[in-house]
Amino acid sequence: MKHYNIALDGPSGSGKSTVAKALSQKLNILYLDTGAMYRAAALKAIKLGVQHKNEEEVSKFINDIDLKIDYVDGAQRTILDGEDVSSAIRANEVSMMASDISALKCVRLKMVDLQRQIAASMPCVLDGRDIGSFVLPDCKFKFYITADSSVRAKRRQAELEQRGQFVNFDTLKKEIEQRDYNDSHRDFAPLKQADDAIYIDTSDMTVQEVVDKILKVVGEGNVL
Ligand code: DC
Repeated sequence: MKHYNIALDGPSGSGKSTVAKALSQKLNILYLDTGAMYRAAALKAIKLGVQHKNEEEVSKFINDIDLKIDYVDGAQRTILDGEDVSSAIRANEVSMMASDISALKCVRLKMVDLQRQIAASMPCVLDGRDIGSFVLPDCKFKFYITADSSVRAKRRQAELEQRGQFVNFDTLKKEIEQRDYNDSHRDFAPLKQADDAIYIDTSDMTVQEVVDKILKVVGEGNVL
C-alpha cells in the first residue's frame, strides 16, 4: 500500500468525524481526530485555571503538555497527564473553549507538529479545520465537508443526547454559528477550504453517500 493521507476539513457538525471513522475502517488506515487535541488543550487550561484566550498564560504550559493519542480496538483515545479524557473532552462546555484556545498560535504550532508526525508515520484520515490548507498542504486527497447550520445543530443535539446531555436546539445553533465565525476568522491557519479540496455539502446526504463519494475519488487515486 502506498503512503497517503486524506484531509477532511469543515465546520463543526458537518459529519466529518462519522465519515472519517467509516473511511478509516473501510480503508484500514488510522483515523486522527485533530479536534480532540485542541479539546484536550482546553481541558488542561481548565485544570490549571488558565483563561483560554490568554496567550501568555497558555504559552507557559502548552509546550510541555503531556498529551498522547492512543488507539484501543481501532478507536482513538486521548490521554492527558496519563488520564483517558476521551469522554470529558466531548462535554458541550469544552467546545467553545477549544475553539478559543485553538486560535492561539502557540497552541496550533504545537498541535500541528504532532499531527504532521503522526500523518508522516502511517496512512491516515485526518479531520479538522486546516488539514488541507495548512497542516498537510501536499496531502493527496482533500475534502471540504459542510452542511447547513440548522442541520448541524440537529446532528449535534442528537450526539449530545446519546451522551446524556440535553441542550436546547436554538442554543446549539447559535453556538455552532459562533464557533464557525471564531474558527474561520482567527488570524493563524483559520478554517478554510483548500483551493484543491473537493467541496461536499452533506445537508441532504446520508453518511454512506458521503463515504461512497470519497471512496470513489480515493479508488481512482491509484493508492490502494
Ligand atoms: O472538531 P471539533 O469540534 O472537535 O474541534 C474543536 C475545536 O478545535 C474547533 O472549534 C476548532 C478547533 N480545531 C482547529 O482549530 N483545528 C483543527 N484541525 C481541529 C479543530
